Amino acid sequence: MSLEAPVLEVRGLGRTFDVGTGGLGLRRRSLTAVDDVSFALEPGKVTALVGQSGSGKSTIARLLLRLYAPTAGSIHLGDEDVSRIRGRRNVRRYRSQVQMIFQDPFGSLNPVKRVGHHIERPLRRHKVVPSRQVEQRVHELLHAVGLTPPEVVAAKYPHELSGGQKQRVSIARALAVEPKVVIADEPVSMLDVSIRLGVLNLILELKEQRNLGFLYITHDLASARYVADEILVLYAGQIVERGPTDNVLLEPLHPYTQLLLSAVPNPGTGLLTDELPERKETVFASSAPRAHAALERVTSAAAPPNSDIVSIVRLSTSHLSSLLPERECECLHACIQKLNLESAVFDGTFLPNQLVEP
Ligand SMILES: Nc1ncnc2c1ncn2[C@@H]1O[C@H](COP(=O)(O)OP(=O)(O)O)[C@@H](O)[C@H]1O
Ligand SMILES: [Mg+2]
Repeated sequence: MSLEAPVLEVRGLGRTFDVGTGGLGLRRRSLTAVDDVSFALEPGKVTALVGQSGSGKSTIARLLLRLYAPTAGSIHLGDEDVSRIRGRRNVRRYRSQVQMIFQDPFGSLNPVKRVGHHIERPLRRHKVVPSRQVEQRVHELLHAVGLTPPEVVAAKYPHELSGGQKQRVSIARALAVEPKVVIADEPVSMLDVSIRLGVLNLILELKEQRNLGFLYITHDLASARYVADEILVLYAGQIVERGPTDNVLLEPLHPYTQLLLSAVPNPGTGLLTDELPERKETVFASSAPRAHAALERVTSAAAPPNSDIVSIVRLSTSHLSSLLPERECECLHACIQKLNLESAVFDGTFLPNQLVEP
């Protein structure tokens, strides 16, 4: 554990979206993309947010950048609650401290502008250094991200660079405003495998040198293992497991983390996992009634109970006792009994096939 105070902290963060049901759009449905998420980023530490596609990772990134407003919870930068800041100036001031590196290095640079321009712009906009020092600072930043000789690289156009070099330009641009926090959303997933490691090493180097709080977002556990000090596992908008990287990855407690790990083909060679395989024996649901419905669907087919489901998992990070209303308990118990499951897991707590007590 680091002794430093967190630089960015989120508490009970939530975001729901209104989604139409199609047709005449008379019925509206809401989708909870992020549900009661809390974590803290510390200086000099990489925190990985891992989860499969659709689990809510990018929504969290957008909430942290104030591209979306949260529907629940708060975001704190140092002592300031920034979740409800308004006004362009305030948002700009906030974003000079919390910067983003996007997945797509190809789309994030302006093709008609030279590399130097991309880094100069934030330096001038945020008045990071006096005008006469801008050029020198551009060169320092390019040097810091391993783009040398900086004078030559600054004069190039984006199309003259490789994907990895473009991503390094994006990183230099993010660093230009001297942020405290950098959020990198799948920063290497669009790069060739051969150059991913170089970019990950750069992230590690910058974290150390600049004491940055890093949120590294990925669906790829192998790269998370490589860069992260701490891991947050996200499933369906909720953090289902968290802890120091080695603890989480070597001894995963939550069945979802175990499932994600089993989907990593070869941590030694490839940094990208395949899509998560469908595994019938575990049913995930965010509440007991939903688990019940899911189980009914799965078992309404001809298959006899217990043939392919060994456990159901209720996903929540909150505490068992406070979150187990009687109704949920009965419902879950009915599932376990009816299907003769081996077990159910509630908030990481293992429940055998016996009466479930609140
Ligand atoms: N602007 C939006 N409007 C409606 N639904 C959204 C919006 N943004 C994201 N979602 C939904 O929220 C869920 C999480 O998406 P996202 O955060 O992009 O996941 P990830 O980055 O982990 O793949 C998905 O079901 C997605 O369809
Ligand atoms: Mg995403």
